[in-house]
Order: sequence, then C-alpha cells, then structure tokens
Amino acid sequence: MDNIRNVAIIGAGMMGHGIAQIFASKGYSVALMDINEDILTQALDKVRENLKLMSANGIEVGQGLEDVVQRIKVTTDLSEAVKDADFVVEAVLEKLDLKQELFQKMDEMCPSDTILATNTSVISITEIAQRAKNRGRILGTHFWNPPFLVPLVEVVKGQDTSEAAMEITYDLLKQVGKHPVKVYKDVPGFVGNRLQHALWREAISIVERGIADAATVDECVKYGFGMRLPVLGPLENADMVGLDLTLAIHDYILKYLESSPDPSPLLKEKVQRKELGFKTGKGLQEWPSERTDKLRRALQEHLLAWTKRIAP
Ligand SMILES: NC(=O)c1ccc[n+]([C@@H]2O[C@H](COP(=O)([O-])OP(=O)(O)OC[C@H]3O[C@@H](n4cnc5c(N)ncnc54)[C@H](O)[C@@H]3O)[C@@H](O)[C@H]2O)c1
Repeated sequence: MDNIRNVAIIGAGMMGHGIAQIFASKGYSVALMDINEDILTQALDKVRENLKLMSANGIEVGQGLEDVVQRIKVTTDLSEAVKDADFVVEAVLEKLDLKQELFQKMDEMCPSDTILATNTSVISITEIAQRAKNRGRILGTHFWNPPFLVPLVEVVKGQDTSEAAMEITYDLLKQVGKHPVKVYKDVPGFVGNRLQHALWREAISIVERGIADAATVDECVKYGFGMRLPVLGPLENADMVGLDLTLAIHDYILKYLESSPDPSPLLKEKVQRKELGFKTGKGLQEWPSERTDKLRRALQEHLLAWTKRIAP
C-alpha cells in the first residue's frame, strides 16, 4: 500500500468526482478521466463545492482546499489517465459491456501490479473482469453516494481476485478514512444492496397492496426502526431481542412477506406513465421542487452532522 501514490478514477459523474475527492484530500495524485469534457469541468467545481461545504461544517478536508482540487488532473484520454496509476477505480455507467471493454483495455495499458477496481452497484465482478488477462488484480470497491460522506466501501472479491489485491485495497481505503468491509462471495448486489432492495421490495409491495400509502411506509422507517439502525444493525438487533423470539416471529410472518422475483407491477406501471419521482415531480408521492429541495437539504445536513460526529 505504501507504494500507491497515483490514483486514477474513470468516469467523473455523480460517484467519480466524489471518489476522486477522497483520494486527493489524503494527498494522492489523482487522474480523473471522462469521455465528456463538460462533465470534467463540472466535476472540479463540484469537488470545490463539497470541500467548502465540509469545511463550513467543521469537517477536516485535507491540506488546503485549492491544493486538494489542484491534485486532481482531468483528462479525456484513458491511456493518459491509467498509464502511471497504482490504483484505479472505474465509475462509468452501470453497463456490463462497457465495463468489460474498459477492464480489457486498462489491463493492457496499466503496469502489471496496478490494482483495478470497479464501483459497480450490483454487477458480478467476475463477469466484469472476464475479458482481461490479469484478473487477479481486479476487484469491486462499492462506494455509497455521496462517497465523500458515506463511510462504507464494500471490497468485493471476484472469482479470480488475489488475496493480495483484497488486502492492499482494504488497507488503502482505511488509510483514506473510509470504512471498508470485505465481501468474499461475488453475488449480485453484494451485501448492502441486497439488504436495501429487500426492504424496498417489501415497501413497494405494502403500497401496492393498499396496506399503507408511501408516506406512511417511510414514516414507519424514519420514526421507528430506522432511528436505531446507525447504532444497532439488524443482526445485533436479532441477538438483542433473542433468536428464540426472532424464530417465533419468522415462523409466523415470513409467508406473508413479498417474495416475488420480478419487479412490482406498481413500479412498472409508474415507470410506464413517466412518474419517475423527483425528476418528473411525481413518483410514489408528489414531488414539487420545494419539497425535493427540502428533503435533499435535510439529507445533506444529516450526513454532514453524522460525518462530523464520527470523524477520527
Ligand atoms: N449513483 C449512485 O448512487 C451509485 C452508488 C454506488 C455505485 N454506483 C455505481 O457507480 C457507477 C457510476 O454511477 P454514477 O451514478 O456516478 O453515474 P453517472 O451517470 O453520474 O456518471 C457516469 C460517467 O461515466 C462517463 N462515461 C461513460 N462512458 C465512459 C467511458 N467509456 N469512459 C469514461 N467515462 C465514461 C459518463 O460521461 C458519466 O460522466 C455505476 O456503476 C453505478 O452503478 C452509483
């Protein structure tokens, strides 16, 4: 890990710019690559805004805000970005073909000991690595949005990933202030998204079956068990209440929970009607712009306050 100095981030969108910021804040030289020049310009502005916001909220942002931004060099040339990189994170669109092509190219362009990570949300790491030759150095690093505030990164081992690549990546992420965890089975959705989407499937099903409306479902989470989640994980909770009680509850309730392997008909219908949520003003609820702004602000304030609280 000590010999990692140069980091490349491929894709400068919502996730890529924030991941670049994490490494630049800790003194690494970062090459940030995208095929779209406008996105690259916006990426640096967004990094500057994020750092200002963090600083204004009393969070340490690294040695000098402009120094951090200056450490990120933008480019539209993939080879330029990765040729001297010791560690690469790919954060382009969630498309298997595109990712496979990029990993094949990067495998040819990079020095043989460069570690190549993908930020895929749900796609198999083994499949993404399929067209590369040196697959031992390819693994998943699943950051969460916004990556500079949410600590978790799932470090995911593909079928061919070496133990050394897992260890180096885990140590590097710890060193830049993240909370990495190792995931040893390359299953779709890894751990975090499997949990998250199990909850979303049930939440949507409750609305679809007319048990409660969308706002009520969210209130049941936010003002109920959601309040405990930052300090009490579901499995700690199961142990706390007792596995005998957990078994008794599961024995009664599991048969009533949603278990469809397909997306909900309500969800499909909403998408067909272009009721997509914040971006169209209506989804499972009505979203006038004042309401979306208010919720986005509340989320940002919550994450900033939490980051400040858990900062070392
Ligand atoms: N948005 C999230 O909440 C989130 C969270 C965790 C993981 N992810 C994953 O991170 C990845 C990126 O997601 P995002 O939300 O940042 O997407 P995004 O659409 O905001 O950004 C993707 C960027 O990739 C660029 N791009 C496309 N083709 C490229 C190429 N060949 N070379 C270089 N750049 C290219 C696009 O121009 C765009 O700027 C996806 O795999 C996604 O599943 C997203």
